[in-house]
Formats: sequence, structure tokens, C-alpha cells
Amino acid sequence: MKELTVTIKRFDPDTDKEPYFKTCTVKVNDGARVLNVLHAIHDTIDPTLSYRYSCASGQCGSCAVLVNGEPVLACMHEATDNMTVEPLNLPVKKDLITDLVPRLSEMAHLMPKDKPVVPAKEDIDAIKPLRDCIECLACVSVCPAVDVTKFLGPTAMRQEMRLALDPRDSGDRIADAVRDGLFTCTTCQDCWKVCPKDIEIPRKAIEKLRSLANKRGFTFPRHLEVAAMVKATGRSVSRDKPTFLEQVGDVIEPYGPVKATVGFFVGCMYNNRLPQTALDAMEVLKRNGIRVVIPHDQVCCGSPLIGTGQISFIDELKKKNIEVFRSQGIDTVLTMCAGCGTRLKNDYPEDKPFTVIDINELLTKYGIEPPAKLPIKATYHDPCHLLRGQGVKDEPRELIRQVVDLVEMPSYCCGSGGGVKSGIPDEAAALAKKRDAEIKKTGADIVISSCPFCEFHIASGTDKPVKNITTVLLEGYREKDRKEGKK
Ligand code: FES
Repeated sequence: MKELTVTIKRFDPDTDKEPYFKTCTVKVNDGARVLNVLHAIHDTIDPTLSYRYSCASGQCGSCAVLVNGEPVLACMHEATDNMTVEPLNLPVKKDLITDLVPRLSEMAHLMPKDKPVVPAKEDIDAIKPLRDCIECLACVSVCPAVDVTKFLGPTAMRQEMRLALDPRDSGDRIADAVRDGLFTCTTCQDCWKVCPKDIEIPRKAIEKLRSLANKRGFTFPRHLEVAAMVKATGRSVSRDKPTFLEQVGDVIEPYGPVKATVGFFVGCMYNNRLPQTALDAMEVLKRNGIRVVIPHDQVCCGSPLIGTGQISFIDELKKKNIEVFRSQGIDTVLTMCAGCGTRLKNDYPEDKPFTVIDINELLTKYGIEPPAKLPIKATYHDPCHLLRGQGVKDEPRELIRQVVDLVEMPSYCCGSGGGVKSGIPDEAAALAKKRDAEIKKTGADIVISSCPFCEFHIASGTDKPVKNITTVLLEGYREKDRKEGKK
């Protein structure tokens, strides 16, 4: 047995004006789940505590709650000392019980065709990755689009895709999905990361529905323009100054001994819109023994097209990029754009002739020369496509702490991904505003991130300077040089 101290968010609409937190200590068995703790509190301390469960084995989804801010199934998640338990971010009925009915009642159901159809094995195999939902609504509770739009939510899209794949269904699932907010999803992937059944909704439902919607002519005009630009120029954004690739040679040699050689994939945003940030990164790599080969005929990775369902010429882009790095004998491709990195890692063929590494991973792998510590308080915005797309969480923080004081804020989508910034600017602006509110709460002087889309977008919604990690590291090196009397 062990003692655990637990804080629970309580609210009884009949007696309380506001929710409040109550802390208590209970004895439970080693390995107890959150649900066991709730039972113990209910049975020995406070019988008025309300929570929901049924199967107690991870099958019914009714027990989902927030533990330390993360949605989990109470019956499956191990209880820890000093944990905080709250209801999901959904309308609360009492204490930990939320109202699931409005959301679940909006979910589409199979509409049988006039004549019976027997699904083939291929149909069943295609449906399989989408049918395991236990309707806990953890995905809905974390969805940034649900927060600021009328989006029905991730699991509703999962259901639309599941039905679209089912030959027995007679509904027009593509038109329904578009009506229900298909294009409001920022592809932040939070729904997938919190799903207790590991259903990859962004890739297996959202992006697939978007590509089907594209064939039906539902793609936004602004997204069609982006695809036309990639087709015509190889880039997804326009340029208004010399690009990164126009300012660098084929190889950048480090100042000291070579620790590693990488091929650099710059991405459209850093090449065309924020070339100085990529140049800052090259300077940091030079200082840290990284030799950088830069194939100049690289093109867009295809991310803005995959994200908006425009995949008709995506294979040509992949082929071209793979060939330009392969022909130079590159075995490691470096990315500094979170979006490009996640696409190259996860959407390019598994047998591509190189591995892909994000710049934060690379710099922490080989270690960096310590920069001067700047008298600055900074907060860090996790790019969705770096944190959830690539699982890179600790590395940026390790780098940032070497140069400034880091004060954390909750990880949350800024609204720039999935074609939302270009397609639904009001939604993107609403999410940037929420980010700004979190930034302000930290009291930070600057915001640091590691993705051009996030940096560009957050800067449009806050009055704090927004900088890339490598730019801040370079400032630290410049300050170090100044103190040491070097230029
Ligand atoms: Fe059924 Fe937890 S009680 S999933």
C-alpha cells in the first residue's frame, strides 16, 4: 500500500458558483490506477465525489479525465503522488463527469443502401484503423479547431472517413465532412496523441477526406493557388527578397574540425520568406563542426499539398527531392522546418536512401559550444509538427536553457498548420490570440520556436519578438565573442 495526495477539480452546479480544487490523501495499492484512487476517495473520504466509469478495462471510454492536464482513461492510467485530476475540456455536469451526449449525438451513422452489400476483405482492412474508437472524446477535448470554430471534431471526421470507406453506406460522407468543418483542422495531431486507441485521425481520416474532397472540387481557392504555385515554381510561397539558396554555395564548411556532414533541406518558408533565419542556423552549424551540403535543385517537400488533400503530383516532388540528395551521396538530411521534417520522416518512402534529422536533434546529438547566457526570459512554443510529428520535445529545451532562462507555457497549436492560415484566416487569428494570452501569462521577453510557420504566425498575433532557436543561439555566440573581445 502507499499514500497518494491528489487534487481534484470539483463542481456541483446545484451548489457551487465556480469550480474549485480539493486536495486529499488516500491509501491505495501499489500500481493503483487513477480510477482506484477515485474509488478510494469516494468510499473513505467524500461520497459526494462524482465520476464516471463502466468497464474499468479501457474498453468503454466513459472514464476519460485530465490528469496533470493530459487526457487519459482513469481506469488505465497509473496514479501518481501529487497528481491533479480534472474533467475533460467539455461541458461539465458534475465534478469529473462531462456531458458527452451533444457531441456523440452528432456522429454520423451508417445509412444502408437499398440493396444489401457485403464488404470485401480489402474494404474491411481499410476500415480497420478507424473503427476502434471508444467514444471517450479525449480527442474533442484537446482539439484547437473545436475551441474556436463549429468543427464537429476529430472523431466525427474519423467516423465520416470510416463510413466513406464502407461499401454498405449510402451517405455522401465527403460533402458531410466538408460541411462539418473538415478544413478547420490544423493537423496539430493532438487528437492522435491523446487517443487511447492510437487512431491516427489526421493522416488516416482528415488528410484522406481532404484528398477525396479535392477530387469533388471542394478545395478552397486559396489552397488551389498554393498547389498551382508549387507546380509552377517548385515552391509553396512567393519570394520578396533573395532566397536562402541564392545566398549560399553548394557546401558550407565548419570553422573547426568536422563532426558530421549533412545535406540541408531548407523548405519553402525559410528559403523564400525567412532566409535570414536559415543563414543564422548555418552560422550556428559552422561553429559546431557540422559540414553542410546544400543541393540547389531541391523543391517543396509537398507538406502544404498533403495537408490540404492535393496529392496529384506529390510523388514527383518526393522523387525529385530524394534524387537530389541521393545523387550527392547524402546519408543524413537535416531539416529546420518542423513541417518539412515531419513529412520527410513520415510521408516519404521508408526505403529512401537517407535518414532525416531535425536541427535540434542534430545539435544536441553532437553537443554545442556553450554560448554566452543572455539576460532574457524566454518562453518556448512547441511546433505541433516537431513535438507530435517528430517526438522532439527535450532537445530544443536543452539548447534554449544554455542561452536564456526558459519559462514554460502549455503546448497548444498556434493555428498556422493544415492550410488553416491561408484557408480560414479568422480561425488562425483566433488561435494566435490564444497563444498570445499564454505568452503574456509567462511574463517572457521573447518567444522562441523552431518552425517557420509557427514563428511567422505567432509573430502576427503577439507584440513580443518571436525568434528561431538558432537565431537566439547565434545571439549568444555574438555576445560571447563581444565579451572575449572578438568581432
Ligand atoms: Fe471503461 Fe475506463 S471505465 S474505459
